[in-house]
Amino acid sequence: MQKNPLSEGLTAHNTPEPFVIVIFGASGDLSAKKLIPALFSLFTHNHIIDFTIVGFARSRWSSSDFKEKTAALIHNRFGTQTTEQETAEFLKRIHYISAPYDTDEGYTLLKKKFAAQKHLIYYLATPPHMYEPIISQLGKNRLTQSADSTFKIVVEKPFGHDVTSAKLLNSKLLSIFKETQVYRIDHYLGKETVQNIIVFRFGNGIYEPIWNNRYIDHVQITVAEKAGIEMRGSYYENAGAIRDMVQNHLLQLLCMVAMEAPNDLEPDSIRNEKVKVLKALRPITVDSPQPAVIRAQYRAGIIDGEKVKAYRKEDKVDPHSIIETYVCMRLFIDTWRWSGVPFFLRTGKRLSRRLTEISIQFKTPPHLLFGQADSTPISPNTLTLTIQPDEGITFRFNSKLPGFTTKMRAVNMNFTYGSSFAEKSPDAYERLLLDMMLNDATLFTRNDEIEQAWKFVSQLISCFKNDADKNLFFYNAGSAGPEEAHLIMTPYNSTWRKL
Ligand code: BG6
Repeated sequence: MQKNPLSEGLTAHNTPEPFVIVIFGASGDLSAKKLIPALFSLFTHNHIIDFTIVGFARSRWSSSDFKEKTAALIHNRFGTQTTEQETAEFLKRIHYISAPYDTDEGYTLLKKKFAAQKHLIYYLATPPHMYEPIISQLGKNRLTQSADSTFKIVVEKPFGHDVTSAKLLNSKLLSIFKETQVYRIDHYLGKETVQNIIVFRFGNGIYEPIWNNRYIDHVQITVAEKAGIEMRGSYYENAGAIRDMVQNHLLQLLCMVAMEAPNDLEPDSIRNEKVKVLKALRPITVDSPQPAVIRAQYRAGIIDGEKVKAYRKEDKVDPHSIIETYVCMRLFIDTWRWSGVPFFLRTGKRLSRRLTEISIQFKTPPHLLFGQADSTPISPNTLTLTIQPDEGITFRFNSKLPGFTTKMRAVNMNFTYGSSFAEKSPDAYERLLLDMMLNDATLFTRNDEIEQAWKFVSQLISCFKNDADKNLFFYNAGSAGPEEAHLIMTPYNSTWRKL
């Protein structure tokens, strides 16, 4: 029975029943940076009590090595926020299996030592080409079926490389697991501010009546990063910004903003509405005179006073690479509500600042009483949901300047999480892991949702298949992106919000 998180209050969670979580790829970055810290934090906050963590990876480590590394990372990450006793208790629950992913060896051990447990969770945090062999081995070694146990599998992104591979992966998973046992992660859905989009839209009466093409001029979604590709050259060379960010995080944000109100907050009610948005996305074509997509790549530049290298000079990157590290696009959702409203999406690495926001720009008043005398253009009302880093909501409206004048100026009305709530939000992975342990799939992507997102993105990528080099622009690291980004807005007389 899946339960509904949003109606429960954001921190009102039960404690999961005793479980074993097997992390495939436990010696990798994701495990060290996200999974182990999230599990540790859940443990120290008493959200999980009775559990075993089994690291499974190819690195030739022993359980003691894994414990030692875990202790070091807890120390670095949590420092004085934790005690030696908490760390020691956590380490008692940790084991490690060193084995290849595609032979029986490690799975036989897993079965011998842990398969008798009641609840088993498999977490795929390996490079994606290992997903298929791991799923096969789990099936072959009968580690997914037992009358006395339950099994779940969590799959990290990237989930496939295009629509065909995503379908293949789905059918592989669903040949062994049921859809209700599969949790496809998009960590953006675990962010408090992303969940708040639904609460903001459907928990307040005043926005829905104006949330449509009568009142909204356009929507801008920005996911800007200062970070580069870090040590992920070989992955990024096969992904680029479209696969890495648009297919998942940006389209999820778009769905949250554009979906219709679900009938209730059951996981499938929300996911059904998101799928409808994805299905209504108008396929992008690139042959029109007005470009709808701009791809670009960062050159060398300066960020926070430090010189950073060009993408083509990054480790494991082809010096002539034509992969995009930035993309912006104009989308349309062909529904009654959104007909004619452009959605402008942009994401990029090595930009001037880190910012994720959704900005709804409303239409200006039909008849301008103010601001005409000196031909000052009137500022449109804008509602901006800042997802990170300064989580909050800002409404921008016009106000009369003080004094003997009718002139106006745009001013802001602000809500920030930091100043309104004393509690700190849990990290996205903590939220998602706990939800999954409690069988709540609301914040995970369903098979049809992922395939639909890939359908749109694969079609988009195919537009550049033959002349990806000609369609690539450049920007300096530390800038706001390529100058050409404005081209996709020109036909709509809009401009990008300042980065
Ligand atoms: C990941 C992408 O999914 O999201 C990374 O693979 C990106 O390239 C990251 O940097 C951004 O996540 P966040 O939470 O820092 O915005």
